[in-house]
Amino acid sequence: MEFKEEIHKRRTFGIISHPDAGKTTLTEKLLLFGGAIQEAGAVKSHKIKRGATSDFMEIERQRGISVSTSVLAFNYKEKKINILDTPGHKDFAEDTYRTLTAVDSVIVVIDVAKGVEEQTEKLVEVCTMRKIPIIVFINKLDREGKDAFDLLDDLEKKLKFNVCPLSFPIGMGYDFQGIYNIWEDNLMLFGEENKQKISKTNNLLDLNDPKLVEFIGENAYNKLRDDVNIIKEVYPSFNKSGYLNCKQQPVFFGSALNNFGVKELLDCFIKIAPSPLPKESSERLIKPQESKFSGFVFKIHANMDPKHRDRLAFIKIVSGIFKRNKPYHHVRMNKKFKFSSPNAFFAEKKEIIDVSFPGDIIGVHDSGNFKIGDSFSEGEDINFKGIPNFSPEHFKYINNQDPMKSKQLSKGIDQLMDEGVAQLFILEMNGRKVIGTVGALQFEVIQYRLEHEYGAKCSYENINIFKACWVENKLNSNQEFNDFKKLKQKFLAKDKSGMLVFLSDSSFSLEMTKQKFPSLNFHYKSEF
Ligand code: G4P
Repeated sequence: MEFKEEIHKRRTFGIISHPDAGKTTLTEKLLLFGGAIQEAGAVKSHKIKRGATSDFMEIERQRGISVSTSVLAFNYKEKKINILDTPGHKDFAEDTYRTLTAVDSVIVVIDVAKGVEEQTEKLVEVCTMRKIPIIVFINKLDREGKDAFDLLDDLEKKLKFNVCPLSFPIGMGYDFQGIYNIWEDNLMLFGEENKQKISKTNNLLDLNDPKLVEFIGENAYNKLRDDVNIIKEVYPSFNKSGYLNCKQQPVFFGSALNNFGVKELLDCFIKIAPSPLPKESSERLIKPQESKFSGFVFKIHANMDPKHRDRLAFIKIVSGIFKRNKPYHHVRMNKKFKFSSPNAFFAEKKEIIDVSFPGDIIGVHDSGNFKIGDSFSEGEDINFKGIPNFSPEHFKYINNQDPMKSKQLSKGIDQLMDEGVAQLFILEMNGRKVIGTVGALQFEVIQYRLEHEYGAKCSYENINIFKACWVENKLNSNQEFNDFKKLKQKFLAKDKSGMLVFLSDSSFSLEMTKQKFPSLNFHYKSEF
């Protein structure tokens, strides 16, 4: 197959949702369609159940399983589909943010009864910032939920979406009868049997077919016609470039558990979702069709076996053809690396591959050299953008508990930070180390892993920090910048890459600082 066709057939995307909206169930149903798994339940086990927050076995188990579910690839209708797994647990949100640097589009799953939830808002914010095209799947239509139009309003208000319904439910919960597929202009109705068991009933009818009244009854028929008229009047019709440019978000309704509306979603997805997109680097825009290979690390996974410190680095291929055993340029270290056993991931297995194409994810062994965000190329100095750190939510001083093991501790901290488990800030004033995490769970993970993988012991000490803000001297006002540094000396730190960070202790003091130093910008993320 030609190189261009290989690119064209790939769809690399992520499914995001608030926990329990049905991400895992939908993923599983998509894999079933692709023939990648044989039975439902195969993907389920990688979920961290709520309440498992201090169960280390659960964390370790999660780490193990998440390697195999990091990328779920399958073929469907001549397309190669790569689903990148995003942890639903909010303590791992940063992992999800980083994974979103490697997707070309996303599907957002919304629970029909709950509408837009907190985690959905945060994740969509990141997608919007990265200009990632979004399709919405409103799930659990077999249950009573909010009115479909209210849900569309919710999407518009909370997520600032410009929605375009491509399907619409006929009834809901007990009265759920099926779905009108606006995209293909046909109807899919449940059969006679119990909805919970339905998987295949699909009577396709035209909206004007008189038989429809017989199938769904007069009331439902009249309501459906009214609903469809409203949709046609109120919402824009589908516009592919609008969707690709994030100006429009198509919406599907269905029930993942009952496999209803999932195939329609997938069939539309492969038609409209983008194939691998060009990616911005600090130097220039890199296009997938370029003949030379380039890619970047978006995830690092530590080995489960503490005796083998090697890690698995996940590289998204941006351009060219990746080849096994060919030396590639590691831009940050200015060093050549070649990979003798690069892995590709499928639903339940990984395999060593010889070549790989843009849009694909490969896993390469790393003995502790790579960091998240590192770029590889065939020699050109390319630094891919869009892999910022976000302000952590929780902060603590980290102290060494065993003076004989200080080397091990600092190596352990360094490597865990490279993996992206948490962020390290070094206070300017006294050189003390502060760890910042997205979830409280990470502190325990770090302590546990430092001890078990590096033989080092740490303890934590509370520190009152509200947010980490990366400081930008936007007007190059040296006077103001120096005044700021003098006044806020106690709160200044450097992040791992040496950037200046203001660790503000309250939202009030941050506001006051912003007012006092108007020529400085304070960002909640490291890229601006
Ligand atoms: P998540 O990955 O987004 O966290 O959600 P997941 O797919 O695990 O789904 C959360 C719960 O919602 C599961 O039930 C799942 O079976 C259920 N669910 C998913 N899709 C649908 C749907 O279309 N209709 C209905 N009625 N339920 C749905 P659970 O009881 O928490 O887990 P399990 O015991 O089924 O594994």
